[in-house]
Order: sequence, then C-alpha cells, then structure tokens
Amino acid sequence: MKTSTTPVDIQKAATSKIENTDFNNLAFGQVFTDHMMICDYKDGAWQTPKIQPYGPLEMDPSARVFHYGQAVFEGMKAFKDEEDRIWLFRPEDNFERINKSSERLAIPAFPKEFFFAGLEELLKLEKDWIKKGFGNSLYIRPFVIATEAGVSAAPAKEYKFMIICSPAQAYYSGEVRVKFSEEYSRAADGGVGFAKAAGNYAAQFYPTNLAKDEGFQQIIWTDANTHEYLEEAGTMNIFFRVGDKLITAPTSDRILDGVTRKSIIALAKEFNIDLEVRRVSVKEIVEAAKSGDLKEIFGSGTATVINPIVGFGHAGKKYDLPKLEDSYAGFFKDKLTKIQYNQAADKFNWRYQVK
Ligand code: COI
Repeated sequence: MKTSTTPVDIQKAATSKIENTDFNNLAFGQVFTDHMMICDYKDGAWQTPKIQPYGPLEMDPSARVFHYGQAVFEGMKAFKDEEDRIWLFRPEDNFERINKSSERLAIPAFPKEFFFAGLEELLKLEKDWIKKGFGNSLYIRPFVIATEAGVSAAPAKEYKFMIICSPAQAYYSGEVRVKFSEEYSRAADGGVGFAKAAGNYAAQFYPTNLAKDEGFQQIIWTDANTHEYLEEAGTMNIFFRVGDKLITAPTSDRILDGVTRKSIIALAKEFNIDLEVRRVSVKEIVEAAKSGDLKEIFGSGTATVINPIVGFGHAGKKYDLPKLEDSYAGFFKDKLTKIQYNQAADKFNWRYQVK
C-alpha cells in the first residue's frame, strides 16, 4: 500500500521511557510510548497533524467532551515480524469505523490522508516499542474529543484527533466468565451501540462491577427490548459453538461491527466451518449448556484477540464449559495471529505494512 505524502510536524521527545519498561510484565493499557499524534479541528478544518512527546493536555474545564461525552475511539494493533517489519491489521476498517462513529456523534470526519500519515509516522518513531513474538503487539488508540469551551448542549466547533500507543500482551490475565444480562442494557434501537462512543463503555461499568462481585469478568448484553437474545460483551463480540456449528449475532445499530469478528467470519467460510450469523437466544444457549451441546463461547476483539469463555451465569445459575483440545477459539486464534504476524499467506489482503 502507498505511504502517505501528507506532511506531519514532528517534535521528538528528548528522552525515552523504553529502558524503564518491563515488556514481560505489561498490564493492558498502563504504559504509553514516548510520542502521540495530535490534530486540531478549528475554523471548519482539520489542521496539520503533529507528533509530539506524550504528555498531558491542557483543556478548558467547560470543554464539551467533559459535559456531553462527545468522544469516539478506535482500537488497533501493530505487529513486528521476524525480519523487523511492522504490520497493521485491516487499518482501513478502523479508519472507516471511527468516521462512522464520529458521524453519529456529530463530529466532523477525519481525512484519510491525515489518519495514515500521522499513524505511520508515529509507528516509525515508536518501532522499538513493538516487540517480536506471538502475543506481543503495540496497541494503538486513536480517538476524537470535543475541545471547544462552553457548556451549551450543541456539537462543538473544535476537536482534537489523537493517537496514543501502548505496548500490549494479553488483555485478560486470567479465565473469563460472563454473566448474561437480565436487567441492564448496553444499547437500544436507534441509539449509538454500533459506534465506538466513549459513553457506551462508561454505561457498562456499573453493571459489570455488580457482575464482578458475583465472580464474572464480563457481561454478555442481551437485546434491550426483551433480554431474550445475546448480543455482545463489553470488550468483545461473542461467538457460540453448539455441536460443531458456530453462531454469532448479526451486526445492527446496537452491535459493534468488530474487525476481529468479521475476520473470524471470513476464516470460517474459508475453512468450511458451519457458521450462522443470526440472533442467538438465551434459551437456546442455556438449553444447549444443559444438554452438553454447548461446546464453546468465545469473545473476539482487537484488544482481547480471541478469548475463550470458561463459563457463564444466567438466572442465578452458573454453567461451566468443557475444556476442548481442538477448540474453534484456538483454531481461529492460530489462523488470525499467523496472518497478523506475517507468518501465513494473506489471502484476504488484511495486512498493511508500515515502511
Ligand atoms: C478493543 O478491542 O480495541 C477495544 O476497543 C475494546 C476496549 C474495551 C479495550
């Protein structure tokens, strides 16, 4: 793919934190690299993208983002192969999705040239933060916030588009059990569930805390109208394996169109795995768990990759899932990560080299 020619103003950090970073002991999203990309929107236009040392922002306390939550974000990863080449995975999808999210929150679209120019320059500067080996990656967090001062409830006229990066290993350090939501909802028809809007995540924290008190790490959200259909978890899309059939809910205006989710769907088709994209009822999954037909549940997402779920809770009962040698979760993780780390052919053209 072509490297962008958009100019980016670069101010390098005087010192690096890399020597003080323990790359064998990374909690997700706690350590950030030396630089960040930042691009301001004012006077009706995005200004020249800049890269500057990572550090705090100064903002007016009345900035719209603090009051009305006009904020969207993305999650991406960069990988390093054995020859030190740097690869992104389906970055165009993240670019398109951030603008889709922005549109829903009345945020101006970010230009593609700026996105790729800023991102690539940033990754070239931070290349030493990307470690080789399966499981190591650089988590990339693009986001947009409304910075205009003033508390009138209207879309801002000023924004910041930014990218920060964090060296990453596993998102969850232990086993993941989920609770099927019976009361709270993540998203409603006509709402912002499909967008990576910051508020979608804030709204999940309280019910997730309640679930954590009961021994679960995550909730699988059900449809807001009936709570009868399983939709997605807070950090992942969700797949169910009943017998040898894989089932996942269709995307909608309530469900995030996950990049990992759609990659699994494409791989399932390539490897002739029986897959149904359709509504998945709580009843069906509980019955399959009782009869022993429910073989697996796993989540998919950029941060979590493919994460097996070891059990779930519903209506006061807990169900354990079998430990499989030949799990679909393991199969897809192997296929997907080999593509991401440039260790397998890229028949779908998903890799994007940063050079
Ligand atoms: C990602 O998977 O990149 C996400 O944005 C989910 C986030 C909650 C970590």
